[in-house]
Amino acid sequence: MSEMQDLLEVSGYSEKAIDYYLNKVNVGELTEPDTHAIYTGPCGDTMEIFLKVEDGVIKEAKFQAIGCAGAFSSGSALTEMIIGKTLEAAEKIDEEEIINYLGGIPPQKVHCTCLSKRTLQKAIKDYKNKRGGN
Ligand code: FES
Repeated sequence: MSEMQDLLEVSGYSEKAIDYYLNKVNVGELTEPDTHAIYTGPCGDTMEIFLKVEDGVIKEAKFQAIGCAGAFSSGSALTEMIIGKTLEAAEKIDEEEIINYLGGIPPQKVHCTCLSKRTLQKAIKDYKNKRGGN
């Protein structure tokens, strides 16, 4: 195990969360997204989420972040969780579900899951507004 993995494990990240962070799962951009949004959290970290949507269902999801390991692992988890889901189901995912999916992150990093949740909600809202929905 690398020193970085050790450090992350000692701080309270699950093996899955560490794997997402180190392998940058779903980190990137979509060249022609149907919607994307940027959100900066109260901590100052920023995330951008890109979505491809077909018939109300999320087909592809990628993200970029200027943020901590909590932001990256949450972004990876959330983008994985929403692929194949309807926009309505995706926008309802909350922090607790992201943390459960990750299998644990340090208590002081729980707010980082909110960054990914809010960025996703903004992207979905923008998508609906563009199409005249609510
Ligand atoms: Fe800002 Fe983690 S400290 S998202």
